[in-house]
Amino acid sequence: MAMIAKQCPDIPVRVVDLNQARINQWNSDNLPVYEPGLDEVVKEARGRNLFFSTDVKNSIRESSIIFIAVNTPTKSFGVGAGRAANLEFIEKCARTIAECSSGHKIVVEKSTLPVRTAEAVKRILHSSANGATFDVLSNPEFLAEGTAVEDLLKPDRVLIGGESSAAIETLAKVYARWIPREKILTTNLWSSELSKLTANAFLAQRVSSINAISALCEATGADVDEVARAIGTDSRIGPKFLKASVGFGGSCFQKDILNLVYLCEHFGLKEVAQYWEQVVCMNDYQKRRFSSRIVRTMFNTVSDKKIAVLGFAFKKDTNDTRESAAIHVCRDLLDERAKLSIYDPRVPEDQIRNDLQLAFADALGEVSDKHKRLIEKNVTVHKSLLDATRDSHALAVLTEWDEFRSFDGKTVFDSMFRPAFLFDGRNVVNRQQLTEIGFEVHSIGRASETLL
Ligand code: UGA
Repeated sequence: MAMIAKQCPDIPVRVVDLNQARINQWNSDNLPVYEPGLDEVVKEARGRNLFFSTDVKNSIRESSIIFIAVNTPTKSFGVGAGRAANLEFIEKCARTIAECSSGHKIVVEKSTLPVRTAEAVKRILHSSANGATFDVLSNPEFLAEGTAVEDLLKPDRVLIGGESSAAIETLAKVYARWIPREKILTTNLWSSELSKLTANAFLAQRVSSINAISALCEATGADVDEVARAIGTDSRIGPKFLKASVGFGGSCFQKDILNLVYLCEHFGLKEVAQYWEQVVCMNDYQKRRFSSRIVRTMFNTVSDKKIAVLGFAFKKDTNDTRESAAIHVCRDLLDERAKLSIYDPRVPEDQIRNDLQLAFADALGEVSDKHKRLIEKNVTVHKSLLDATRDSHALAVLTEWDEFRSFDGKTVFDSMFRPAFLFDGRNVVNRQQLTEIGFEVHSIGRASETLL
């Protein structure tokens, strides 16, 4: 919305939320999300034609296009728990829109949704008692965190699905202010909804595919980065999204695939469901494999050993930790009674502690006192890499922050116990230089020196 406001100064954009604290943050100098370039975009438009408030009902009344951009997390209860999307917030939004609208409005699904959700949204909207009429469009978002501003400025495509060509054109005209027309694709509603889930499933599948190969590389002496380069030059495969890692994270990939799996099951497509579910299984395996490798390499015990965890966000250039591989690896290491000293340049300490607690929560979201004590006793969070790594037995790089590519290896090495292990879950450190200093470096998708 900030980008639309920036590019279209004559269009008033109102962003509303029920959460007053969150809106206050959007109105302050400390935006609630860290995203390169976003501060400037918000500053340019805020107060001019971009407004943040909790005045949901009046904003609906005054707007002609309404974007629904609420959470659609995986359902944690009832039918479809652990797989289906929780559409509670979508439904509440649709009901509020129906209640407050009069005249004609275009309602745009921006949240990622299961196929045919628009059907339910339409039925709720059409029950409006005020005689209002609606067109429902699907306009999924393809930006990635960390590069959001760039992705919004120059998207590969904008997708608009709908039944009314007049409504599609109204929205297309907004994007056409800065995006070439040929990049604005229009489809029917269901294709648009399904394309979003499919795009994320394909992207996650590529990561799981290269991660599967990374396990084979470690066993055989092949190098996964070399394999990725070799296959990526085939123009049919392409070089992007082939970086082997400790596992994909983020709020979308897992959630969207599980949602796809649930849909397939719902439509009786058991084999299709099983096919996509493997992408998530492989990702779980990759995270587990990484923590087991740490334990195995460190003489089968990390109990009471200090492991410096470098990076907690699910990728660089974001403070988002949702489904971060780091959470899973840290939980496994805490189970082994390791002492963790964690450093991430952007994620605050309370977020890290909260994530770790939830990693031990039971099905009802309760965390036992035993686990709370375990975290209290064994986790410290630091403000610099040097503080986190001092007196450690091993380093584990879990996010590919730029500063981990070129830290002062000699100083870190001198402060560590021997052997000084380094487990690179992102293949970003300068392996050769650090090995020369004396580190024992273990990379994803590369056999250890002994096998080589
Ligand atoms: C992803 C998609 O890339 C966006 O197109 C989509 O709009 C978004 O989900 C969404 O549905 O909201 P995002 O999760 O922000 O974006 O970040 P990605 O760059 O896709 O990375 C996801 C995860 O995969 C990260 O943990 C990243 O480290 C990992 N990854 C990515 C790899 O391990 N290897 C790669 O080669 C690429």
